[in-house]
Parts: sequence; structure tokens; C-alpha cells
Amino acid sequence: MGIQAWERRVDLPGIRPALEPIPDAPQAEPPQAVTATEPPPPEPLDSEAVAESPVAGLDWQDLDARVAECTLCELHKGRTHTVFGVGARDADWMIIGEGPGAEEDRQGEPFVGRAGQLLNNMLRALGLRREAVYIANIVKCRPPGNRDPKPEEAAACRPYLERQIALVKPRLILAVGRIAAQNLLDTDVAVGKLRGRAHRYGEARIPLVVTYHPAYLLRSPEQKARAWDDLCLARALLEEEA
Ligand code: URA
Repeated sequence: MGIQAWERRVDLPGIRPALEPIPDAPQAEPPQAVTATEPPPPEPLDSEAVAESPVAGLDWQDLDARVAECTLCELHKGRTHTVFGVGARDADWMIIGEGPGAEEDRQGEPFVGRAGQLLNNMLRALGLRREAVYIANIVKCRPPGNRDPKPEEAAACRPYLERQIALVKPRLILAVGRIAAQNLLDTDVAVGKLRGRAHRYGEARIPLVVTYHPAYLLRSPEQKARAWDDLCLARALLEEEA
């Protein structure tokens, strides 16, 4: 299926060697999505509905229930299941992706398709079990036809993600893919320029690292060396802050 086992190239705690350039790693920048025309302005948010949805004080159970009944954006109309998030609720690592695909919508769990298998392998290469991290998405309902979530959909879903981050209190956020990176960092800079360095997220200044989406890596396996560098950077940041 094109999913290779990810092998750790160095033994822990030898992190720094993994941060050195890998000789055979390609140096070319990955192709960036090119849009011929300006994207249409986002449709206005139903701000009243968002304002009526305070989630700041909710515990896990109530937050999950609120997401399960959410109708704040159009995406709820096509969903089979909401995809809330999965993993250790006190994890050091929080992995944030884009949104559910068909399989995630069917199962109600993030990253369970082919991209999810690769994500699991990436984590395993770091010595992390999937169950030891917390995995969530920018949007909790599947965008139809696997299109990108619209800005207003991401905005409507944002309080849920913010609350998840506040509850988990991760020591490191790994943003996988353009949509996660651009939403979390509030930028339209290309993922190729955001990856490979340390960012900070929110008032808590949580270290955040951007890497390629595993679905992109399935299409462009030559970028896996760069993704591995990103994972090693994330691990190094986490250990630095310990
Ligand atoms: N891609 C994502 O970004 N999230 C998922 O949950 C599945 C695929």
C-alpha cells in the first residue's frame, strides 16, 4: 500500500545527529499549491451561534457531547460521525491534522485511514505509541469530497480545539499539513516554509512544530526525510523544555 515502516535512524538519546542533514535527502522545495485566482472571501460566521456555544469551561465529557450535537457550520449536514479526538488526555504530544476523511467519518476516530497508518509509523519511529499522544483535527466533521475546510468552518470548530488543547496541556504540538499549520499559526505562509523550525502556540507559548501531512508523504515519499527531521526537532524541543 506504499506505507513503509519508519525506522528510527539513531538511538535515543542521540537526538542531535538526527537533526543533521541527511546526505541523500532531496533539497528541492516541495511543490506548493498554486491558486490562479484569489480565494473568495469567507462567508460570514454565524457569530451568534458561536457566541452561544461557550465551551471554555467544559470538561471532556461535556465537550465531547457538545461536539457530537454541533450544527455550527454546514459540515454537520454530511457527517456520519463527529470525529472528536483520540488518545491520552494528559499527553505530552498533541498531533493536529486537518479534518476527517471518509474512513474517519465512518469510524468516528481521527487518522484511521492510510494516512493514519503512516502517522502511526512516524510516531512509532519516535518511540511513541499512538495511544500515548492526543490526536485531533482542525474540524470535527468531514468536509465533502475531501475538500479543504473553509475558513468559516475552521473558525466555528476552533473553540472545541482550543478547549481540547487547554485540557490536554500538551508540551508540544505537531501540526501536520498546511491546513493545521496555517490555522494554528494564523498565517497563509506555505507549509514548506513553516516546517523545520520552532513556533509557539497561544498564551501558554506551547512549542509547535509543523510537518508535512502523512497523506502528502504517501504521494511524495521523497519528502519523508524532511518529515523525519521535523519529528526530531519536535522531540529535541520537548526534551529541551523538560
Ligand atoms: N487527515 C487528517 O488531517 N485528519 C484525519 O483525521 C484523517 C486524515
